[in-house]
This record gives sequence, structure tokens and C-alpha cells, in this order.
Amino acid sequence: MAGAAEKLLGRGGPWRLVEEPTRGIDRGCVNDTFDLHDCTVGRSRTGHGFCRGGDSGGCQDRGVQLKPNYPVRTSRLVLRPLAAADVEELLADRGRPEVCRYLPFTPMTREVLQARLAGDMSRREIKQEGQALTLGVRAKDTARLLGDVVLFFHSREHRGGEIGYVFHPDAGGRGYASEACSALLALAFDELGLHRVTARLDSRNDASARLAARLGMRQEAHLVRNEMFKGEWSDEVVFAMLAEEWPNSPAHRTHQASQGS
Ligand SMILES: CC(C)(COP(=O)(O)OP(=O)(O)OC[C@H]1O[C@@H](n2cnc3c(N)ncnc32)[C@H](O)[C@@H]1OP(=O)(O)O)[C@@H](O)C(=O)NCCC(=O)NCCS
Repeated sequence: MAGAAEKLLGRGGPWRLVEEPTRGIDRGCVNDTFDLHDCTVGRSRTGHGFCRGGDSGGCQDRGVQLKPNYPVRTSRLVLRPLAAADVEELLADRGRPEVCRYLPFTPMTREVLQARLAGDMSRREIKQEGQALTLGVRAKDTARLLGDVVLFFHSREHRGGEIGYVFHPDAGGRGYASEACSALLALAFDELGLHRVTARLDSRNDASARLAARLGMRQEAHLVRNEMFKGEWSDEVVFAMLAEEWPNSPAHRTHQASQGS
């Protein structure tokens, strides 16, 4: 859910969609798939949709790429890949029980974060389906780390992806997550060329549902007691936005406003 160019998007420059022939290690979908328990900052247990084999094309990733030109900038924020030096600031939010309440992991320790920062969390680009790009979100004025957003590229065949987001409680209530996720959706639709982007959340996570709705995502499903989540059956809510809905969405307007700032 969950969320991240010099003057962000829309001038055709900072990010690019590259189609190139499959080659070498990029051919196999088993490489670089994200860890379904740790990597998801949203509620996703997915990972479905890729590497199905057969004729689905799922393992024949031809190299769609998302290579943002960092840093990604919005009106008030700067988004860039996380690095080892971010560990203490990340610990301040991902280490808090109340932040992790509806996230698919327990509060993270310094050691867990260090390992993640040495691996998937510092990825700078998406090269194939099954990968996720996590971007740290900092305030332009103070340079403080406010949170992070993530974009999962689930399926090349279905052009499907998902967003996730985690912010420090002190950064709440000011629209930072909305602004960062708007930039992330611009990456997803305008640069990676996705057809549909989802956000999956616990039905009790009102703040997350309000955020998804504020972005202009449509609630498509309420799955009743469909998963055992931290020891109890819980409901999952699925929000989605299609590529054709993106240009008229509130998130797109937020993104456009960032371009003018
Ligand atoms: C989910 C989460 C990111 C939402 O944070 P948030 O602060 O509510 O979202 P935003 O930063 O977009 O701020 C929006 C709020 O600020 C207000 N706001 C103030 N200025 C604003 C502005 N310029 N633009 C938009 N909203 C603004 C909005 O009215 C809104 O308040 P409301 O929800 O009470 O109506 C946050 O609660 C979180 O990180 N939770 C823990 C991790 C988690 O559960 N992640 C989601 C997993 S599915």
C-alpha cells in the first residue's frame, strides 16, 4: 500500500520505458522476486501473476524497465531509493508497533532493516515482473525521512502492479502520503505503462482506505475473513485504478500541481 524527478514527471525525460530483448539472467522470473513476507509494505501477499509458465508469457519477461531519474521531486517531497544510512530513521517508523498494526510484518529491528537495506529495499529500478521499487520519502525543507512508498510490478502480461506506503505518525495528516503516492502512480502509469494498479489493505485500516480513496482509487472488493492476519481472521479491502482513469484522478491533479511548483 500501500507508496516516489528533478521537477518530477511529465516532460518526457526523467523516467523511461525501455523494451529490450530478453537476455541472460533476466530471462528467469525466479530471479529477483521479492520476499512476500518482508518486502511488502502494504498488505500484499501476492506474487501471483508472474512466473506462471506455460504460454502466459509470465516467464518471458522481455525487459520492461522503470528507471527513474533520481531524485524524484514533488511540491514538498524528495523521493529516492533507500540506503544503508537510512536505517535509524526507518527504525523510527517501521520499528513501531502502531505503524505495523496492519502491515504484514512485526515491528522491524535494526538488524532486519540493515539486511533489507542491503537487498531489495535499495533497488533503484524495475527490470522485470516480480520486482518492487521502494522509495524513501523526505521533506524538501527539513530533509527528514517521512516514510516510504513501494511499487510492485506483478505482471507484465496483465500490466498489473500494486502500491504500498508507510509513514511516520509525526508526518501524518498533512497530505505527504497522498503526494508521494501520486508521484508513485505517475511512475506506474506514465513510465512503467501499467494497465491497473491496486492497493490492498486490512478493512480496519481506515487511514489507508481514506488515502486510497483520496488518490481516486476505486474500492473493488471487500473480502470477508479471507486471511489469517497476525493471529486472527481479518477482512481485506482491494482498491484499484485503471490507466484510463489515471488522467482524471485526484492523484493526477496532485501530480500535475507538483510539476508546476
Ligand atoms: C496510511 C497512512 C500512510 C495514511 O497517512 P495520512 O497521514 O492519513 O495520509 P496523508 O499524508 O495523505 O494525509 C492525509 C490527511 O491529511 C489531511 N491533509 C492535510 N493537508 C493535506 C494536503 N495538502 N493534501 C492532502 N491531505 C491533506 C487530509 O485531510 C487527511 O486527513 P484525513 O484522513 O483525516 O481526512 C498512514 O496512516 C500510515 O503510514 N499508517 C501505517 C502504515 C500503514 O498502515 N500503511 C498502509 C498499509 S495498507
